[in-house]
Amino acid sequence: MEKYIIKGGTPLAGEVEISGAKNAALGILAAAVMADETVTIDNLPDVSDVNVLIDAIAEVGATVKRTNRHCVDISGKTITSTVADNEYIKKMRASYYLVGALLGKYKRAEVSLPGGCNIGSRPIDQHIKGFKALGADIKIEHGMIIAQADELVGNHIFFDVVTVGATINVMLAATLAKGNTVLENVAKEPHVVDIANMLNSMGANIKGAGTDVIRIKGVEKLHGSEYSVIPDQIEAGTFMLAAAITKGDVLVKNVIPKHLEATTAKLYEIGCTVEEYDDAVRVIGNPSLQATNVRTLPYPGFPTDMQPQMAVALALANGTSTITENLFENRFKYVDELTKMGATIKVEGNIAVIEGIDRFTGAEVSALDLRAGAALVIAGMAAEGYTMIDNIHYIKRGYEMFEKKLQKLGGNVEIVDSDKAVQKFKLKVG
Ligand code: UD1
Repeated sequence: MEKYIIKGGTPLAGEVEISGAKNAALGILAAAVMADETVTIDNLPDVSDVNVLIDAIAEVGATVKRTNRHCVDISGKTITSTVADNEYIKKMRASYYLVGALLGKYKRAEVSLPGGCNIGSRPIDQHIKGFKALGADIKIEHGMIIAQADELVGNHIFFDVVTVGATINVMLAATLAKGNTVLENVAKEPHVVDIANMLNSMGANIKGAGTDVIRIKGVEKLHGSEYSVIPDQIEAGTFMLAAAITKGDVLVKNVIPKHLEATTAKLYEIGCTVEEYDDAVRVIGNPSLQATNVRTLPYPGFPTDMQPQMAVALALANGTSTITENLFENRFKYVDELTKMGATIKVEGNIAVIEGIDRFTGAEVSALDLRAGAALVIAGMAAEGYTMIDNIHYIKRGYEMFEKKLQKLGGNVEIVDSDKAVQKFKLKVG
């Protein structure tokens, strides 16, 4: 089984290029099947979640041409099936965007119920509420979401919670509904805006993405387009935290600094220097990090997907910090793993109380989900000695060439799959 091996203690320094945003790419790929003309999507991250969704899109019959690692041409004209069900798609969250896309276009969709990271119960009641309001009949049978409608008609929908997934999914379906749809209390994440922009580039009429209210005038059909995915704010934030934790100096390139503001603000608070440029941010670590308090919130609040990485920094800060997780109730499972590296963290309900320590010590730990896995990697980069991380398939879901990018910054990290490879690494790094 593949593992990461890390020899910590080297401050990360240099430049890193951020890939396209996974969560935007997933919605954009689903949107692409809604046209019968070719849609070209560029700046796709080469990560397993994206590749699984591309395969699923090909499986329903769309013509898919990967023109290079980061670019794909998709034509929905050849789609023959509205059923998306395979063992891989069951494991990912964003498979449910195919419900919105196929229901919008064909008025029918059957998609495996979403899996994804086990970070708490992840209901889809708001997706269902939205689809039903547009006139669809929704059934959950044999692990599948089955959606069908004679026609979709625009409606006024007020979401009970702010949800990225339901906002995007219902927006996809409403794009091809008859008449006007108003979505209230929607998510404002950059990828919601990116997917709305992408749909508009295909001829949709969506206004207000990025605010609390999205207004959609249904159109009859969508046309081809060329679209480039926005940079991944969570990958960028992970490298920003990696610089902070290793007391390094990293220029994080190909980012939209505005999308990183919540992370940047916390880095200032803990004593780091952050310089903002047009499409880059430079983070310079501070030898003595300070404690602070963090609450996860929907955008523009502090992202839940950056919470484990932030916990790693706070575990090394002077004093007592708290993290309040407001989105997912089961997102502190990594704490036991971090404890093996010396962290002192006590979890009570949705609050983690963190007593800062001087240093981590390397240990054998397990990536329990995508972002928690990335957090362990950056903790390992700052730890004394060797850290081994297993279950790295989680990390590969959302980080493109993570180990290569860290190596370029001077990090001693490799993927190994045997004891021999571990010994070789240890001989190499000393
Ligand atoms: C997306 C991201 C994930 C991120 C999360 C929050 C993707 C593929 N995943 O997940 O990385 O952590 O946003 O930024 O883009 N909820 C309901 N009913 C619903 C839907 C959601 O109660 O029908 C609740 C959830 O339990 C959670 C909150 O709403 O407490 C936010 O979830 P949501 O924004 O939908 O997260 P995802 O779209 O699953």
